[in-house]
Amino acid sequence: MLTIFAHSLSPNTTWKMLRISLPLLLFLIVSPSSSSQPTEFFFSGFKHLIDPNSLTLADVAEIEKNGVLRLTNHTHFLQGHTFYSSPFKFKNSTDGRAFSFSTTFVFGIAPDLISGDGFAFIITPSKNLKASSGQYLGMLNAADLGNLSNHLVGIEFDTVQNLEFKDIDDNHVGIDINSLVSNASVAAGYYRQGSSTKQNLSLKSGKPIQAWIDYDSIDNVINVTIAPSSKRPTTPILSFHVDLSMFLNEFMYVGFSASTGQLASSHYVLGWSFKINGQAQTLDLSSLPSFSRPPKKHTALTVGMSVSSANLVLIVLSVVIYFMIKMKNVDMVEDWELEIGPQRYTYHELKQATDGFSNKTLLGQGGFGRVYKGTLKNSKPYVAVKRASHESKQGLREFMSEISSLGQLRHRNLVQLLGWCRRRGDLLLVYDFMANGSLDKLLFDNPKTTLNWDHRFRIVKGVASGLLYLDEGYEQIVIHRDIKASNVLLDDELNGRLGDFGLAKLYEHDSNPGTTRVVGTLGYLAPELFKTGKATTSSDVYAFGALLLEVACGRRPVEHKALPEEMVLVDWVWEKYRQGRMVDVVDTKLQGQNNESEIMMVLKLGLICSNDVPALRPSMRQIVLYLDGEAELPENLGPPAAFDGDVEEALMLHDSLV
Ligand SMILES: *[C@@H]1O[C@H](CO)[C@@H](O)[C@H](O)[C@H]1NC(C)=O
Ligand SMILES: *[C@@H]1O[C@H](CO)[C@@H](O)[C@H](O)[C@H]1NC(C)=O
Ligand SMILES: *[C@@H]1O[C@H](CO)[C@@H](O)[C@H](O)[C@H]1NC(C)=O
Ligand SMILES: *[C@@H]1O[C@H](CO)[C@@H](O)[C@H](O)[C@H]1NC(C)=O
Ligand SMILES: *[C@@H]1O[C@H](CO)[C@@H](O)[C@H](O)[C@H]1NC(C)=O
Ligand SMILES: *[C@@H]1O[C@H](CO)[C@@H](O)[C@H](O)[C@H]1NC(C)=O
Repeated sequence: MLTIFAHSLSPNTTWKMLRISLPLLLFLIVSPSSSSQPTEFFFSGFKHLIDPNSLTLADVAEIEKNGVLRLTNHTHFLQGHTFYSSPFKFKNSTDGRAFSFSTTFVFGIAPDLISGDGFAFIITPSKNLKASSGQYLGMLNAADLGNLSNHLVGIEFDTVQNLEFKDIDDNHVGIDINSLVSNASVAAGYYRQGSSTKQNLSLKSGKPIQAWIDYDSIDNVINVTIAPSSKRPTTPILSFHVDLSMFLNEFMYVGFSASTGQLASSHYVLGWSFKINGQAQTLDLSSLPSFSRPPKKHTALTVGMSVSSANLVLIVLSVVIYFMIKMKNVDMVEDWELEIGPQRYTYHELKQATDGFSNKTLLGQGGFGRVYKGTLKNSKPYVAVKRASHESKQGLREFMSEISSLGQLRHRNLVQLLGWCRRRGDLLLVYDFMANGSLDKLLFDNPKTTLNWDHRFRIVKGVASGLLYLDEGYEQIVIHRDIKASNVLLDDELNGRLGDFGLAKLYEHDSNPGTTRVVGTLGYLAPELFKTGKATTSSDVYAFGALLLEVACGRRPVEHKALPEEMVLVDWVWEKYRQGRMVDVVDTKLQGQNNESEIMMVLKLGLICSNDVPALRPSMRQIVLYLDGEAELPENLGPPAAFDGDVEEALMLHDSLV
């Protein structure tokens, strides 16, 4: 058998070592063998590889000058892969049983502002994975999840909690077989020698961590152990019983896979050893190269040289001038902002993306500011950049602290927040671009194209499921506060997606901290908001009810030009309901479509949601059941929910708020 030891040198000791021990370092052991099948390897750093072809780097993976293997960088939606170039024989060809194996490696995860996705040690049948970035960790894609013909075994070191894959937290180690739903997982940590108390260990601390993975084919168990140093704990953090014989092919590749998503981390491997049927050679962290976190976008300028005083004056002067010029354009970043994800863009990037916020790229103007169409590097073809200005630092800061959680909200019926930028009082938010604009444009004021009922029904069902996710699907309840047709955006397949969630909160506080004002749009505002000023999931339900009515009636919730009795949509629909003439309110453009029962159901549901009494409104979950036809609407719609205030007064109040 042929065994190759590929040693490498740490950068600072290179020259000294080369002089004294060149022959020792570059050794190559060739033992007599009948086949040239490798059974082990050892990389103490990745510099000066004896066989430069021993590793296959794919996608963005790179070996840096100092011998660190970098799988990804801080750019989003990347994948990085590295494999040992030759496959290993993982199974006995006579009896088909998997062999034992052992591997150890030292890795580091350096997050950008907040951490992106993690990485994995993988055993795969091929070096060409048809995988996706983001939560798929570069291992699999949405179509092949769980497929037995993947023949994929991975040990994931995951730094994002993905509910879709039932992740336990945002800092865990898991064993994945053919799927990203781990067969077993545990919060990252380790047991100190002789201690049975688990020590927590942050995977994304930006410090090196050593991992040991051992598979025993007699006991059929995989053990995973991690530690912040090369002192190997005796007790593994994760132990999983499985016979890998049925999952592995006879020949398999071993390697690493990492990805970035909306948020990004850089993933590094500093050293790696592996062996089939035996213990992998030990790695010593202290002899490995070290990685430095990639520079943040804003680091202080350091001048590190000795200069004569004349030169110094010159340098200081030019630095001052440089900054004076630069200051005009630069975003001043405060400490608290650095803790915020998702992706932070520079003002310059966004300015460039939108052609200097030119009118040519202006998509529209909403309550919270102007929206521009933009093109960013390394991103989807188009993004929407919303520019909101705000004077209150207090409200801004509070909102910013929510951005990191808003950025993690992922649902097909929400407009994805991709990133942000703040420049003085300007807040710039980057969202997915929605090809078909907002729903109001296709509903009101005789639009060029009209939506048929099937489209409309699918849109409201989509919005309901997005709201249910805001309500229940995420670790904290997110109240939208401004649900209305112009905040429902339509993607290229006319799916309804809710935009601007959380943004209304920014405007609830005026410069006087402690006071709260009602924000939203008249006609969508639940009556209790005028009394309490406190938005709740139930006030969101009220606004959703108004949305249902407008979709079925094809008009705004408050129509100043309408007859007095028709001015407030919900009152008018109630009145017609009482008269048993609800068909009168249906959008005339929907006439002749055979969906009357569905339209009536949506109108009644709109009325139920618009009840004056919050407790009598259904929950989002109940609404989704009604819309999916899995529950029947109650016969009696309850007490009529009219806007019991004076309309004129409300309008005045509204005008004073906007
Ligand atoms: C990350 O890698 C990609 C692909 O190699 C490259 O285009 C991009 O500029 C890199 N980003 C950074 C921040 O280094
Ligand atoms: C493969 O399995 C056969 C039958 O169990 C056994 O005799 C042989 O030693 C095994 N070979 C290896 C390399 O383990
Ligand atoms: C592990 O999970 C995969 C995919 O979910 C499943 O096919 C497999 O049976 C599981 N294996 C074990 C041993 O639980
Ligand atoms: C599993 O993958 C194989 C090969 O790609 C494919 O032929 C098969 O249809 C897939 N099975 C399922 C259930 O998707
Ligand atoms: C470890 O983390 C868990 C959950 O994150 C936490 O409850 C526990 O207090 C932590 N333990 C220590 C010793 O920090
Ligand atoms: C796995 O861990 C268990 C529990 O500590 C231990 O008894 C067993 O020997 C370990 N097996 C391997 C292959 O490391």
